[in-house]
Amino acid sequence: MSLTLLEADNLRIVEHITLEPGPHLNVIAGPNGSGKTTLLEAIHLLALGRTFRSGRTAQLLRAGTDTLTVRGHWRTHAGEAVAIGIERTATGRRIRINGQTALTIGALAHVMPVQVIGPESRYRLTHSARYRRGMIDWGLFHVEPQFYPLWSRYERALQQRNAALRTAAGNANLDSWDAELAQTGEEILSRRADYACRWEPRIAQYARLLLGTDGLTVTLARGWPVGLSLAQALCAARSQDRERGHTTCGPHRSDLIVTLDEMPLRERGSQGQQALAVVALRLAQIDLYLRGAGRQCVLLLDDIAGELDAQRRQELLAALGSLGAQAFITATEASRIVTRAGQTRVFHVEQGRLTVSENA
Ligand SMILES: Nc1ncnc2c1ncn2[C@@H]1O[C@H](COP(=O)(O)OP(=O)(O)OP(=O)(O)O)[C@@H](O)[C@H]1O
Ligand SMILES: [Mg+2]
Repeated sequence: MSLTLLEADNLRIVEHITLEPGPHLNVIAGPNGSGKTTLLEAIHLLALGRTFRSGRTAQLLRAGTDTLTVRGHWRTHAGEAVAIGIERTATGRRIRINGQTALTIGALAHVMPVQVIGPESRYRLTHSARYRRGMIDWGLFHVEPQFYPLWSRYERALQQRNAALRTAAGNANLDSWDAELAQTGEEILSRRADYACRWEPRIAQYARLLLGTDGLTVTLARGWPVGLSLAQALCAARSQDRERGHTTCGPHRSDLIVTLDEMPLRERGSQGQQALAVVALRLAQIDLYLRGAGRQCVLLLDDIAGELDAQRRQELLAALGSLGAQAFITATEASRIVTRAGQTRVFHVEQGRLTVSENA
C-alpha cells in the first residue's frame, strides 16, 4: 500500500510538480525555502483535506492564484489504484475519489491514513492535551468503524449541554444531555483504555530501540474523578458547570500522561529524547495499525534528521524499514539520510521544482 503518484499545482512556492514516490523511503532534499515541507503538506492535503501547519488556507494558495489542486494515486492493500484529488480555493474545497465527488473529509481520511512528525510535534506532545488525545483517537478512528459515529454523538451532546448551561435551561433539559454524554462518554473511555493497553507494549519496544530505555510510559487519565461514573461526575459538577458555562468533566478532558523514568517527559526528557518519544509513540501506532487492520499508513517526517544524532537516525530508518511503511523525509542534505541501497528514492527540489529524482 503506497502513494504511487503525487501532483500538485499552485501550492505555496509550487506552480506544478509531479513525483512518483517509491513504496518505502522517500527523501525530499533541497535548500531552505525550496518547497520540501510544502510537498509533505501536499500529501497531508490529499489525505485529510487540510495542512498540518498552522495558518489560514488562503496562505496555501500560490501568490496571485485562486485555486490549488493536489492529485494522487493510492495503491490499496488489495492492489487496486484509487485516484484521489482535492481542489481548494480561499473559501471552499472539492474532493474527488475515483472521479466521484465526495461530500465529507471523512471519506478521504479512510482512503489514505497518514501520520506526521514535524519540528513542532515534540512541543505539542509535551504541551497539548488535545494533541495527546488526538493520538489515541487516530488509532481508534482508523481501526474501529464505530468510533467516529460514537465520538460525533458525544460531541453533539456536549455542544447541546454547553448551550443549555449558558442559557440557564432547566434541570430536565440538562438531564437528557447528561444521560447521552454519560452513555457515549463511558464507551469512548473504554475504547481509549483498550487502545492504550494494546499501544503500551509496542511503545516499550520502540522506546527500547530508539531511546535505549524501558522508562517511557503512557497512562490514560479519563477526564473525571476516579471513583465516580461519568453520570455521577456530571451531576456533581452541574452547578459549577453552570457558573463556568461549559462542561468540565468527560472524555473531552481526558489526557495521556507521558513519563520518562517516572517523571513527566516535559521535565525529564532532553529535546532529542522528546523528539524520539514522539517517534516511538507514532511508530508504535503504525505497528499496531498494521497488526490490527493489516494496512499500512504513510509517515511524513519533516526536518526530523536535524534533531537526532547519526545513530538514532539509523535506528529510526531501520525501524521504518522493518515496518515496511512508506515514509517521506525532508532534509537539507540527502546524505544525512543513509539507508540500505535500493530502498530509497531521493527527490531534489529547488524553487518549488523537481530538479533530480534518483534511486539511492
Ligand atoms: N502562498 C505562497 N505563495 C508563494 N510562495 C509561498 C507561499 N507560502 C509560502 N511560500 C514560500 O514557499 C517556500 C517553500 O516553503 P517550505 O516551507 O516548503 O520550504 P522548505 O524547503 O521546507 O524550507 P526549510 O528547509 O527552511 O524548512 C518558502 O520560500 C516560502 O516563502
Ligand atoms: Mg521545511
